[in-house]
Amino acid sequence: MPDGTILGIETSCDETGAAVVRAGRDILSNVVASQIAAHQPFGGVVPELASREHLRAIVPVVRQALAEAGESYASVDAIAVTQGPGLAGALLVGISFAKALSFALDKPLIAVNHLEGHIHAVLLDHRQEMNFPVLALVVSGGHTHLYVAEVDANLWSYRNIGHTRDDAAGEAFDKVAKLLALGYPGGPIIDRLAPQGDPLAVKFQISQMKHPDRRNFGKAAEQNVQTGLHFDFSYSGIKTAVLRYVETQNMKASIDARRAALAGIAEPTIEDVLKVCDRQTLDLVASFQRTMVNDLAAKTLAAAQEYDVQTLIVSGGVAANQELRLTFTREANKCDLPVFFPSSMLSTDNAAMIAAAAYPKLLRHDFVAMNFSAEAGLALR
Ligand code: KG4
Ligand code: ZN
Repeated sequence: MPDGTILGIETSCDETGAAVVRAGRDILSNVVASQIAAHQPFGGVVPELASREHLRAIVPVVRQALAEAGESYASVDAIAVTQGPGLAGALLVGISFAKALSFALDKPLIAVNHLEGHIHAVLLDHRQEMNFPVLALVVSGGHTHLYVAEVDANLWSYRNIGHTRDDAAGEAFDKVAKLLALGYPGGPIIDRLAPQGDPLAVKFQISQMKHPDRRNFGKAAEQNVQTGLHFDFSYSGIKTAVLRYVETQNMKASIDARRAALAGIAEPTIEDVLKVCDRQTLDLVASFQRTMVNDLAAKTLAAAQEYDVQTLIVSGGVAANQELRLTFTREANKCDLPVFFPSSMLSTDNAAMIAAAAYPKLLRHDFVAMNFSAEAGLALR
C-alpha cells in the first residue's frame, strides 16, 4: 500500500459516483453521473429507475475516474464502496461491481457508511485544523443527524445525539418545491430563489421535541434518553404549514400556471423559474428557508454547547445552501466555535468522500469479506 490510493464507488441514491483519492485527502478525480433527468418527471427519486441508471453508468463512470486520475485498475491500492444507508437496489449495483473488482484484481475491499462519507468530505479540505471532539450535522435528502465524532489511532467513532423524527431537511426542501411547482431537486432551486423574497413575510413555527425519542435507538442514545440530552428535528409540520398557506391564500391557480409553463421547457434554468414566480411565492420560499436554517442552526449550536465540542462540521446536500452557511458561520463565530463545510461539489453525494472515509480503514486493515452486503438502514457508530 505505497501511498494509499483508493478507488471509491458511491451508488446509494441517485448519483453514480467514482473517485480516486490519495492518502484520504488528495482528490485525483471525482466523477458524478447525475440521474436528475431520469427522476425529474416524477418529482422525486424512483428506486427502480435509480438501480437501472446505476447499472448503465457504473462502468463508464469508474473508467473515467481512473483515466482522469492517471491510474489503472492495477495501480490503485484498494476499492471502497458505500454499504448503506440508501436504496437497497441502488447500493447493490456499486457493491457488486466493487466486489468483482476486488476479487479480480486481488485488492482489499473497504465498506463505508454513506453518512461517514459525508462527514469525511469536510476533511478533504480541512484536515489539519480540526480539534476533537467534533460535532457533525449531516443534513441531506435522507438524513438530518447529529453525531459527536472522536478519533483514536485512525479508529473513528460516532455517537448519535439527535436525528429527525420524520422528514429530513432536504426532503422538506424538495417537497415544498414540488408543492409550489418550482422543479426538482428543490433545495438548490429554493436556495437561488430565496434571496429574491422577504424571509420575514410568512411566520412559520417548527415543532420543538420535548420528549426523548425511544424508537430505533442504540445504547448511546439510550444514555441521552436517561440524561435528557436530545436534539431532535422535525420537518413534516412546516411542509403541511406551507400547504395550508397555499390553500388559504388561494395560490393554486398560479402554481398550476407555473407547472404548465415550466413543463414546456426541457431543462428550465433558474431565470426561467424566476420569470414565473410572483412576489408571494418568493416571499413564501424565503420565509420557509429562513425558518429551516434558523432551526437547524439553533439546535445544532445548542448541541455543540451541551457536548462541549471543539469543532463543528456541517455536511450533506443541504450544507450547500448559501443562507445555511452564512447563518451557521455567524452563530458559530458568536461562541468561538470553528465551523467547516465541504465545498459545494463535495456537499452533495460523491465518491471522493467515500474514498476519504475509507483511508483510515485502509491504515487499520479494516477490510470486508466477499459475503458483505448492502444495508439500507445502516446506522453510523
Ligand atoms: O447529500 P445528498 O446529495 O443526497 C442524500 O444523501 O440525500 O443531498 C440531496 C439533498 C436534496 O434534498 C437536495 O434538495 C438538497 O440536498 N440540496 C439542497 C441544496 N443542494 C442540495 N438543499 C438546500 N440548498 C441547496 N443548495
Ligand atoms: Zn448523501
